[in-house]
Amino acid sequence: MNFYPLVRLLSTEIFKTGTELGAELGISRTAVWKQIQQLEQLGIEIITKPQQGYKLAKSINLFNELLLKQLLIENKSNLDLYLFSSLGSTNVEAKNLLNSPEVKSVLVLTEMQTAGKGRRGRTWQSPFGQNLAITLGAKIDTDISKLQGLSLAIAVELKESLNKFAAIDVGFKWPNDIYVNDKKLCGILVEVAGDFSGPFSLIMGIGLNLKSSSAFNSIDQPYICLDELGIEFDKNLFAIDLAVRLEKMISKFLNKGFQAWQARWNKAHLWKDKQAEVIHSNLSKRVTLKQVNSDGALLVINSEGNEEVINSGEISLRLAE
Ligand code: BTN
Repeated sequence: MNFYPLVRLLSTEIFKTGTELGAELGISRTAVWKQIQQLEQLGIEIITKPQQGYKLAKSINLFNELLLKQLLIENKSNLDLYLFSSLGSTNVEAKNLLNSPEVKSVLVLTEMQTAGKGRRGRTWQSPFGQNLAITLGAKIDTDISKLQGLSLAIAVELKESLNKFAAIDVGFKWPNDIYVNDKKLCGILVEVAGDFSGPFSLIMGIGLNLKSSSAFNSIDQPYICLDELGIEFDKNLFAIDLAVRLEKMISKFLNKGFQAWQARWNKAHLWKDKQAEVIHSNLSKRVTLKQVNSDGALLVINSEGNEEVINSGEISLRLAE
């Protein structure tokens, strides 16, 4: 269902009646009413006044295809833009698009995801217009081992892009969660598909919480949205800034590896020198967290006082009580 036309009409100061909305959309009043109900189910708050009609309770910053395309051209980007009002997952869509031999690199954006993917098999909530879901996908002709530490380098680029738009001091929780005030603001999910000795499709998905919404209530970890920090910017400008940064970083990363981002990552490392539980396959052990090495692996000191190297994958970290 394409909700763009109705949401655009509802994004005004004045109320619009079902008849007016129907006339502008070329659909019946009943069809308008049904769409309004669907929008409310998606967590979009709509004010209804008898005789006067409907309007959005809070304005929504929507994607603007023309602006996005113009910005990609201005930045000399080779990314092909795919914009949706609703999608299962931008990562899955990017992966499918890259299956076509003629498609080289894509930028997939959507106002909402119905099956957003998180790390370690979790789901990711992307209510309509409240979470920025962005995926950059590209075909890479090299060995997959060259990607070690990539998701941490993406976190550095994301931090630097955010800093261009707002005075916000984000920190990193290894391997690639972005935190503010001890709560998660963004998540990163890097996936690969194809022949791991190359060529393969590299999928870099990022979710950024923009506006608080009741639809976030099911999240089972502390989270924060930009509006709670009093931050609002045009997501069109941010999405392109980030996408262009990531597009540029890929070739540099394949040449130089994580080393070029290592110092910046360690500078924003939130839990350095903290005691934590390292959890893997339901087993946990207590360690002291140190910095990340030039591969993006986390160095820790175990209970015997020896250094260990923790690689990403299925491991999670929890601060010790
Ligand atoms: C995490 O668990 O922290 C990673 C979350 C990654 C979410 C983003 S939203 C855009 C892209 N599409 C998805 O399905 N997931 C990623």
